[in-house]
Amino acid sequence: MNASNLAATVMERIEALGQITEEPGRLTRTFGSAAMRQANELVGSWMRGAGMTVRQDAIGNLIGHYASNSPKSKVQSPKSAVNSLGSPVAAEPKMLLLGSHLDTVRDAGNFDGALGVLTAIAGVQRLHASGTRLPFAIEVVGFADEEGVRYHGAYLGSKALAGTFSADDLKRTDARGITMAEAIRSFGGNPEALAEARLDSNALLGYAEVHIEQGPLLEQKHLAVGVVRAIAGQTRIKLTFTGHAGHAGTTPMNRRRDALCAAAEFLLDAELLARGKDGLVATAGEISALPGASNVIPGEVRLTLDLRHPEDLVRQAALNELQNRAAAIASERKVHLDWRLVHQTAAVACDPRLSALLGQAVRRHQPELAMLPSGAGHDAAALAAITPVAMLFVRCKGGVSHHPDESVAVEDISVAIAVMDDFLQSLADR
Ligand code: GLV
Ligand code: MN
Ligand code: MN
Repeated sequence: MNASNLAATVMERIEALGQITEEPGRLTRTFGSAAMRQANELVGSWMRGAGMTVRQDAIGNLIGHYASNSPKSKVQSPKSAVNSLGSPVAAEPKMLLLGSHLDTVRDAGNFDGALGVLTAIAGVQRLHASGTRLPFAIEVVGFADEEGVRYHGAYLGSKALAGTFSADDLKRTDARGITMAEAIRSFGGNPEALAEARLDSNALLGYAEVHIEQGPLLEQKHLAVGVVRAIAGQTRIKLTFTGHAGHAGTTPMNRRRDALCAAAEFLLDAELLARGKDGLVATAGEISALPGASNVIPGEVRLTLDLRHPEDLVRQAALNELQNRAAAIASERKVHLDWRLVHQTAAVACDPRLSALLGQAVRRHQPELAMLPSGAGHDAAALAAITPVAMLFVRCKGGVSHHPDESVAVEDISVAIAVMDDFLQSLADR
């Protein structure tokens, strides 16, 4: 099977997966939803078709396993050259993780996440079709939650594999009051057994993820793919300003405690701060004004803040400044502020050795190697806690992402498949 046939299959599958949604008329697939269950079933069938055995872990990650060429391979695990009696023992084969996430944002494009899972399956399908096994096993993971839309904490799936999932998060509630523990249980997972989902870092060779670039650099450079240097850190905050609701027609302006005006002032300050600092981005993606009537002064406003910068110290300084600004605005306007940290991850550098191998593979398929930063978060950032990670970005039209207009050319998918195939071969030949 050549890369362009496989790319055509990936494109068809991306379109089919894009139809699986929890909101009619637009693509939204959040953690633990019926749409995620349907997506896992469909993607699981493609994994089986590519010669993998398939399981769903305790948090709902979909995992396809493609065995190595030998149950006891030549690859030595760091621990096990001899047993406790001093006799030599064969090491277990190591495992390479591939994949990305199957959840989406609200009103998403088709490629964010899906591209990485489906190109990984295509790579295994190619091995399977030619009867090839490598000296290491491959596991393709469709992560259960990377976007953090439902519970505002991203990387739930990859944190479970990395063993960094916090059990406190199980008590979080979604917009309908359903706890994360309940959501996991009704999805067929087991919130009490999340520790069992954790992978043994000694057994891993690394994690490699293909992902839509979500930015304009590859398009500007006329390149199909590029290698990621580092993934920016991010902080997400839930803020609530609580003032006092009242009559819009009768309450004089100087007697109001308008929570929405406080939030508006804060948002413009956040925008100003981010505009003034190179690389800093600040976004309020969700906001609700209560009680929510055109003739009632908003008494309570809930909003989110997402803050990112490639350097953790810059992000932290900006965060402190914004928290102080929010407190000052609340005090000036006589409203109450609740500031709650709901997600925070440090910036993560991709592994130099794995990225160099990926870079060599890229050079065999295009004239130039671009090394790119990632402003977006990725499952690779969470997995870096237990294993070396590398990422391949694929050019997208206009740099557009987190929007239904997301678009990737089938020719570029074909390059990504060929690069990943080379990458697997060079790992196998080491
Ligand atoms: C995930 O796409 C993120 O960066 O928010
Ligand atoms: Mn995304
Ligand atoms: Mn993504």
